[in-house]
Amino acid sequence: MTALTISDLVYRWPRQSAPCLDIPRFELAPGERVFLHGPSGSGKSTLLGLLGGVAVPQAGRIELLGQNLAQLGSHARDRFRADHTGFLFQQFNLLPWLSALDNVLLPCTFSARRKRRAAPDPHTAATALLAQLDLDPTLWAKPAAELSVGQQQRVAAARALIGRPEILIADEPTSALDAERQQIFIDLLLRETASVGASLIFVSHDRRLAAHFDRTVALDEINRVASGVTS
Ligand SMILES: Nc1ncnc2c1ncn2[C@@H]1O[C@H](COP(=O)(O)OP(=O)(O)O)[C@@H](O)[C@H]1O
Ligand SMILES: [Mg+2]
Repeated sequence: MTALTISDLVYRWPRQSAPCLDIPRFELAPGERVFLHGPSGSGKSTLLGLLGGVAVPQAGRIELLGQNLAQLGSHARDRFRADHTGFLFQQFNLLPWLSALDNVLLPCTFSARRKRRAAPDPHTAATALLAQLDLDPTLWAKPAAELSVGQQQRVAAARALIGRPEILIADEPTSALDAERQQIFIDLLLRETASVGASLIFVSHDRRLAAHFDRTVALDEINRVASGVTS
């Protein structure tokens, strides 16, 4: 079974005449860590949004862990994603008034499975992740809004990893960091992903980051819609 299989996927944004994505086939193996790149505007975030349920494709199949998402009702689909997928966004999407620790614990409140898998208990798992990601313990009780960008990024990574989701999806999570911090953060993310045995789709427009991943994919290789867009 694959972690993710996309087949004959077509997606067109509302009020657009042409599709943005036309992907005959894409597969992600269990534990595989893929670097997906493409120019700005080529549809990377759109693809991740389809995986995350922000939008629904007009045609084709998305199978997560052998489950065809279209076969689930919208509530079951959201549940399934929360159970099996960790998301890491460019803007982190932390709740600013919640502490770093409570932000990390959020997936365990949305998903009983993530809560169960956060061993030996969610609180211990959250603090262990924050420690592994080198976030100083004096910061754990601070509101997320009071942390630096680099610190917020570590909190967001811990939140994506808690409860050992099988698939991690990261959309340009390093674009706010300088080159050295990017490298450190990617190494941390790869190490943590490997330690929970998760698959990773890491998206960036910056091809220099590709070296440490198992496989590099250009969106244009899998998407029949030529991007031709640069900005
Ligand atoms: N909410 C939206 N509504 C309509 N079109 C959108 C929306 N979001 C993105 N697009 C369009 O989809 C295309 C791909 O955008 P996006 O997926 O954000 O690219 P990338 O993440 O590769 O920079 C662009 O042409 C963009 O204008
Ligand atoms: Mg994007």
